Amino acid sequence: MRVLVIGSGAREHALLLALRRDPQVEGLAIAPGNAGTGAVADQYDVDISSGDAVVGLAREFGADLVVIGPEVPLVLGVGDAVRAAGIACFGPSKDAARIEGSKAFAKDVMAAAGVRTARSEIVDNPAHLDAALDRFGPGAGETAWVVKDDGLAAGKGVVVTADRTAARAHAAGLLDDGHPVLLESFLDGPELSLFSVVDGRTVVPLLAAQDFKRVGDGDVGPNTGGMGAYAPLPWLPDELAARIVAEVVEPVAAELVRRGSPFTGLLYAGLAITSTGPAVVEFNCRFGDPETQSVLALLDSPLGQLLHAAATGELAGFPALRWRDGAAVTVVLAAENYPGRPRLGDVIAGADLDGVLHAGTARRDDGAIVSSGGRVLSVVGTGADLTAARADAYDRLGSIRLPGGHFRNDIGLAAAEGKIRV
Ligand code: GLY
Repeated sequence: MRVLVIGSGAREHALLLALRRDPQVEGLAIAPGNAGTGAVADQYDVDISSGDAVVGLAREFGADLVVIGPEVPLVLGVGDAVRAAGIACFGPSKDAARIEGSKAFAKDVMAAAGVRTARSEIVDNPAHLDAALDRFGPGAGETAWVVKDDGLAAGKGVVVTADRTAARAHAAGLLDDGHPVLLESFLDGPELSLFSVVDGRTVVPLLAAQDFKRVGDGDVGPNTGGMGAYAPLPWLPDELAARIVAEVVEPVAAELVRRGSPFTGLLYAGLAITSTGPAVVEFNCRFGDPETQSVLALLDSPLGQLLHAAATGELAGFPALRWRDGAAVTVVLAAENYPGRPRLGDVIAGADLDGVLHAGTARRDDGAIVSSGGRVLSVVGTGADLTAARADAYDRLGSIRLPGGHFRNDIGLAAAEGKIRV
């Protein structure tokens, strides 16, 4: 099988490494990739938001399967173009990708499917903002305001704050830019990400993971695209994971089938385990980053065959997934000033070590690897348990040098110390 992966992050680097372990995968390509992915796959520079360009490349490479990593091409319908060209595609249609592309659509699907999620309201008129803010947050008996961009914002359109002025400023800024705002009630409790491979009706869950969205240790500072992740979750009972599949993921997949837009690809459920049970924070239409880096480090089943089975509607017959024992911890090394405007062009030393996945990296003409994005590298450690996996990840990180680079020191720490309870 020849597989073309679309994207340029550490998530796609992790997908390539896991695909390479599948004995049936005999050719790998990526577009556009980064400075690390060229060592694993043939690398092409095409416009990944163009269906025609991706189809052209898939034909040139002779792809049997196209795996689309990021949400933007999916929301733009690149998956539909690939399928229309007769090539198997792992990634939902434009219609089904609205589960991530429009939070209002996701809320509507969840309501129809009877899935528990935060109370919410869309505000698209600045004149209605103050009254709407009064119906949420501390004034309404809740811990904080949750203010989200209704559309795609790479994880950075969300502000969670008990400060009304900050909540209002974020919402007003989005409205000024012409973006509708979603106000939500705050869901208290540990959060988790559960990825499921879906072929329309059949849902195959992967190991649950937890990511760290705030930039600083102890969950302080602004939201980012994700500063680290670990899997599996020692604090999540198997029955609760099974309940989430049965009560959240399967009903949403069935509702999308009922609406005539079946979901084929990776359905990402972000949940909070509140005192009254699991509730959905968000759905995404693709593998999460950086959770994927941890989850795939533990996958023992052949990834290419799994994604091909999903893309061709044959998941029901796929053997039960096998997982490696132990745990995986991913720590993101970010550029100076991220999640603000990151400083770029710094030379990175040690980026070619094992367990180092590239994201915002580029190769300079003189061969040096330099930073080219906010999240620069994902460093993945594995071990018999979370403590060992953390030690492995931070040990590897210690061999890397990026001027001004920063990372969180507490990825997976609370779980390793048994401090998370549901
Ligand atoms: N880890 C958050 C995301 O992928 O959206």
